[in-house]
Amino acid sequence: MEDRKLRELLDDMTLEEKVDQLVQLNGSFFGKADVLTGPDAKFHMKEGRPLRTGSVLGEHGAARLKALQEKMTAAQPHHIPALFMADVIHGYKTAFPVPIALGSSFNPALAERVSAAAAREAAAAGLHVTFSPMADLVHDSRWGRCMESTGEDPWLNARMAEAMVRGFQGDDIALKGRLASCVKHFAAYGAVQAGRDYNVTELSEHTLFEDYLVSYRAAVKAGVRLVMTAFNTIDRRPCTTSRRLLRDILRDDMGFEGVVISDYSAIEETISHGTSLDHRDAARQAMEAGCDIDMMSPCYLHHVEDLIREGVLPESLLDEAVLRVLQLKNDLGLFENPCKDASEEDEQALHFCEAHQALSREAAEETTVLLKNEGILPLSEGQKIVVAGSLAEDPGMTGSWAVFADTSRTVTLRMALEELYPDADLSFFASDDISDVLLAEAAKADAVILALGENQKKTGESMSLSMIELPDNQKRLFDAVHAVNPHTVTVLFGGRPLAVPGIAEKTEALVEAWLPGSCGCYALADILFGRVNPSGRLSMSLPWCTGQLPISYAAFQTGRPKPAANGFVPFTSNYMDVPNTPLYPFGYGLSYGRCVYSPVELDTDTLTKGGSIRASITVTNEGSIPLREAVQLYIRDLHASVVRPVRQLKGVNKVTLAPGETQVVTFVIEEPMLRFYDADMHFVSEPGRFTVWVGHDSLTDNSADFTLE
Ligand code: BGC
Repeated sequence: MEDRKLRELLDDMTLEEKVDQLVQLNGSFFGKADVLTGPDAKFHMKEGRPLRTGSVLGEHGAARLKALQEKMTAAQPHHIPALFMADVIHGYKTAFPVPIALGSSFNPALAERVSAAAAREAAAAGLHVTFSPMADLVHDSRWGRCMESTGEDPWLNARMAEAMVRGFQGDDIALKGRLASCVKHFAAYGAVQAGRDYNVTELSEHTLFEDYLVSYRAAVKAGVRLVMTAFNTIDRRPCTTSRRLLRDILRDDMGFEGVVISDYSAIEETISHGTSLDHRDAARQAMEAGCDIDMMSPCYLHHVEDLIREGVLPESLLDEAVLRVLQLKNDLGLFENPCKDASEEDEQALHFCEAHQALSREAAEETTVLLKNEGILPLSEGQKIVVAGSLAEDPGMTGSWAVFADTSRTVTLRMALEELYPDADLSFFASDDISDVLLAEAAKADAVILALGENQKKTGESMSLSMIELPDNQKRLFDAVHAVNPHTVTVLFGGRPLAVPGIAEKTEALVEAWLPGSCGCYALADILFGRVNPSGRLSMSLPWCTGQLPISYAAFQTGRPKPAANGFVPFTSNYMDVPNTPLYPFGYGLSYGRCVYSPVELDTDTLTKGGSIRASITVTNEGSIPLREAVQLYIRDLHASVVRPVRQLKGVNKVTLAPGETQVVTFVIEEPMLRFYDADMHFVSEPGRFTVWVGHDSLTDNSADFTLE
C-alpha cells in the first residue's frame, strides 16, 4: 500500500482499533475460538472480544500462523493483518552457537550469515519479527544473560549487532526469507547491579554513552526496525517509561524512526518499581515516554482509550505510535500478503536443512576458544581416550534462546566423537559422579577429556549466580581424574565465563566451547582431533573468581596503579589475594601452529583532523596447517581531560593463512576513532599522544605511538 494511504487508514480507525494495534499478547490468549480467551485474570478479557491485537508473541509454524492470520484479519474491521513476533536469537529449528560464542568468532560476517539462516527458517514458519540482536554489553558473568550478548566490548558488540541486523533484514524486509529485527534491551540491561537479573543499574553518564549505548546506536544506524525496552532502571527511572531514554536519546539523538516495544510486562512492572501508581498510570507514562507496543501487560489494553477520551493523553500521541506499527506492517508487505513467507513446503525444505546444519558446525569452528594447550592437543585416533562428565552427553547444547530448536536432533560431544572418529579408542563416563571404573580407565588412558560447565538450563534469563566457580561435584571429578592421570583436556560448556583457576592451572588443555548449537559439537570434536584449527577469541574475559567482577580489559588507570611486579603491592590499587587482570583476557585464544607478527609500523606518526594513519603488520603462519588469525587493533589516549581506558579495541581483521603464508594487515586510524565524551559530555577528540597496538589479543605489547594534532 502507498504510505499516504496508511494515514487515511488511521483516520478511519476507531479509538479501540487503534489501541489494539499497540497490544501484544502471547498465543495462550488465542485458542481455537474466534475470540480472545483471557487465560489470566489480570487481563480481564471481555468475553467474546474479537481476536484483533496488533501483534502476537511467540506463536509459530506456517499452518498455525496462516490460520491465525486469517481469523485475525477477518476479525479486524479494516482487515489489518497481525504481526507475528518471537525470539529467534541464535536460530529457529537449527540452533547456532549462542551469541556470546558468536562474539568469540571475532567475525561479524559469520554472525550475519547465521542470522540470515535463522531468518529464512523463521520466515518460512510465518514469523515477521525477531527479538534479536540482544546488544547488551556485559562485564559480569554472574548475569545469566551473558549468553545472549556478544560480550564485553563496545566496538565488537556494535559490529556484531549491525551484522545481525543486516543478516535478519537484508536490504528489504518485504523480501522472502527476511524478518524485521528488534534490538534489545534498551538500555544497559547488561549492567544490572551485581549481575542479578532485573536489578537496577548504577551508571555514570559517561559509561552509559561511551560503553553501553554504542551497540544499540550501531543497530539503529544499520536500519533496525524495532527497539525493545529494558526491564531495568537507569538513573532510578525504569527504561520503559523513560522519556529521556526513549525520546531524547533514542529518537532525537540516535534518529530511530521505527517501533518501540516494551519487554514482557515491563510497563506493568513499573508499578512494582514504585514509579507508577497503577495500570492506568503506567500506561500513561509509557505512552508519554514513547513506548509504542505493550507486550504482555493489561495497561494499554484497558487504559489508553479512557486516557484519550478523558483528555489526559492527546490522540496525536496514540496516532503517532499506531502509524509506526502500520508502517512496519506495510514495509513487510503484510497488507498485500498477510502471511508473508509462511509455507509448509518451505518449512520442510529449510528447517534443520543440511545447509543450516553445516553452517551450525562451521560457525562453531570459529566460536570455540582454545585457552591452554601444553601439547596434548590435537589428539590422535591411535590414542586411548576417556571422556568424563555429564555434559559429554547432554543435549542441552543449543542455548535457551533458540526456543524453537529441534533439540531431539542436537549432536552431543559423544555423538560427534563416535561418528567422526570411529577408529578412536573412546570410553565414555557421561556423569559428574566419580566411579572406580572411571578412575581405573582414566589411569590407563593417553588423555582424558573432561566435559564441565553448565548446560542450557543453567544459563539464560533469570539464571543469575552469586558464585561463578564450577559446582563442587565437577571440581571433585576433575581432581579425582587428574590425580590418576594428569593428561587432561578440560572442555568448558556454558553461556558465561566461569571461574576455573585451579583447573586451568593443572589441566594440560582448556577449551571454551560455550553452547555450540545443534551441530557445534562436530566442530569441537574436529578441534580436539586437529582437523580444524581453532580461531575463537574470548568475547568476555574469564575471571579468576567471582570477586573480580565486574571486569574488563578496558579498565581505567588509577592514581596508584599496581606496578608490573607479581603479587600484592601495598598502597597501590590491587587485591591481596588475586591479580587485577583476569585469568584469560578479552581477545585471547590459541591456535595450533605458530603465528608470528612483525612489529607494528605507522606510515606517519602524526595524525591531523581529516587525515589518517595506516598501522600495518605482517602476520606469518609458521605452522604446518592453515590458520585463521583475528588481528586486533587497540588504542590508548595517553593524556586527556577525563580518564581514558588503558586500551580499547578499535578494529579486527580476521585473515586466513596457508602454511608458510605471510599477509600484510593494515588498519586505517582516523580522528573520529579517537573521540570520547569530555567532562561536558561533548563527543570530541583532544590533541596529544596515543599508543596503538596491533596484535593477537588484548595483552599484546606490539605497539607504536603517534600524535594527534
Ligand atoms: C525477555 C526478552 C524476550 C521477551 C519475549 C522477556 O522475558 O527479557 O528478551 O524477547 O521475554 O519472549
